[in-house]
Amino acid sequence: MKKKSLLKLFIFLLAFAMLAFVLGCGSTEEPVDTESGDDTEKSEAGDPDLEAENEADEKEVLLMGTNAGFIPFEFLNEDEEIDGFDIELAEEIASILGMELEVLDMDFGGLILAVKNGQIDIAVAGITITEERLESVNFSDPYYVAGQTIVVREDETGISGIEDLAGRLVGVQEGTTGDFECDDLIEEGLFKSEDVRRFPQVNEVFLALESGQVDAVIMDEPVANRYIEERGGMKTIGGVFTEEEFGIAIAKENKELLEQINAALKEIK
Ligand code: ARG
Repeated sequence: MKKKSLLKLFIFLLAFAMLAFVLGCGSTEEPVDTESGDDTEKSEAGDPDLEAENEADEKEVLLMGTNAGFIPFEFLNEDEEIDGFDIELAEEIASILGMELEVLDMDFGGLILAVKNGQIDIAVAGITITEERLESVNFSDPYYVAGQTIVVREDETGISGIEDLAGRLVGVQEGTTGDFECDDLIEEGLFKSEDVRRFPQVNEVFLALESGQVDAVIMDEPVANRYIEERGGMKTIGGVFTEEEFGIAIAKENKELLEQINAALKEIK
């Protein structure tokens, strides 16, 4: 009898130990199971992040660089998203090419080099096609015609053309055609180098004019008009004095993308 009950106890303890072991293993494995279970559940339930990720996985990414602050071509909207004509254009091109557009906000002065170095696939930022830039990158067919204009404060009476800028302080965005125009005027002897103030962002150029840090701004006309519309207190002088065409910058080696983008532009036009 005693032997039997000891055996029973032994079997009972063994069974208990085995059960504890199984449960123990189960509980350590459980989080892993739940995690993987969660994943399938999420994608099945249509988690938007995961879905976007999966789509991006399928589609090749078209990485675009821009400089948001050039209204109406690129700017940050109320949701702090990069928005504007250039983004819509690039979205359409990407959709025609069956690619997923990603947009990076960068300094304007660094865009051409970033394309050249392959950091980004394209730069779309109201970029004027110039001989100098064509030495570093290719450009798509032009998609917009613009030109530089002079902006002054509304109460300014002493400036009615380029010649009147002599001896005055002029603001431009660094690395833009407005900046290069100033270089030419410095070479021609109209400006002194120290009279030109260069700012990294368009917004800063207009702030400098508003606060009296500079007397005039040289800027792409459509952008100047939009800033004046939005902020008031400023006016343009004498219409446009350059003729420029905007193009999409693409690395020289990327011939196929250049052709695809030009074909897409034709389709969109
Ligand atoms: N069109 C001028 C240029 O090519 C100015 C462009 C500035 N663009 C910008 N997104 N800030 O130099």
